[in-house]
Amino acid sequence: MMGRDRLRIAIQKSGRLSAASIELLARAGLSFRMSRDRLFCFGESLPIDLLLVRDDDIPGLIQQGVCEAGVVGLNVAREHALAAKDSAPAYDELIDMGFGGCRLCVAVPQDEQWDGPAQLAGRRIATSYPALLGDYLQRQNVEAEIVVLSGSVEIAPKLGTAEIICDLVSSGGTLQANQLKEVAIILESNAVLIGTRASLADERRELMDLLLRRLDGVLKMRESKLLTLNTSRESLPSVLKLLPSSDPPTSMQIAGSEDRVVLQVLCHQDISWHQLEELKRAGAGHLLVMPVEKMLA
Ligand code: PRP
Ligand code: ZN
Repeated sequence: MMGRDRLRIAIQKSGRLSAASIELLARAGLSFRMSRDRLFCFGESLPIDLLLVRDDDIPGLIQQGVCEAGVVGLNVAREHALAAKDSAPAYDELIDMGFGGCRLCVAVPQDEQWDGPAQLAGRRIATSYPALLGDYLQRQNVEAEIVVLSGSVEIAPKLGTAEIICDLVSSGGTLQANQLKEVAIILESNAVLIGTRASLADERRELMDLLLRRLDGVLKMRESKLLTLNTSRESLPSVLKLLPSSDPPTSMQIAGSEDRVVLQVLCHQDISWHQLEELKRAGAGHLLVMPVEKMLA
């Protein structure tokens, strides 16, 4: 059976989320050695390994205890949770990973006029998300026939399997290419880390907490900006009061100038034009705002 001292995270083997998942984990300080069959990545910097699988299998793998966490689209996380609604949920949504944005939509033929969900009554709708679609139809008080397909849902109307579909839309290109149009959004989705944090009792609990802290740090850093400016010693107190951050700034002496100092401060939100103008009025010069993400790239 599995070791109790290593954590296993399942990620999508190939597809929209795989590269970004590995990249984010790498930024959190995890490094891996890929197995020859490309199904497993051994964690080198930390005892956290990756399992490369189909995204739709990830909730089940967590439920079976094969892995403790996984990165999936919110659509997959919610579909499996809804489908298993009678049993206790096998996982929690732990962290919003901030990438892989898309939406689960109902789409009808481009030439069909759309007057609202009542129009779906008695129709056949193809989808890979029967639980989410069923839940939506129930909330709309509409009865329709759900045709479950595991892939290539968008070609169902051409094949005559169903005239309407419910599928993920990102750029909209797939719908366009199949003469379909989006008429209702069922779920806004992006990548989330799901896992079984609460039920872990051994070393894996601490590893999971460490992973969550690191990911949180990386995600915060993504939005962060580094503000650099210089000021005279005389204006320093009033400039310091206006700095748009709760973090303490770093100050540096400019070589050859007794009077001027450079300040740098990390800001976790956007810095407005207004804040910059106020700083200038207080005597700050050479203001530079730099996204931290760019500096690391
Ligand atoms: C989704 C969906 C469409 C496509 C839509 O598939 O099923 O085929 O993306 O994207 P677009 O609006 O940018 O054209 P996905 O890549 O998630 O693969 P999967 O459903 O097989 O996992
Ligand atoms: Zn999939």
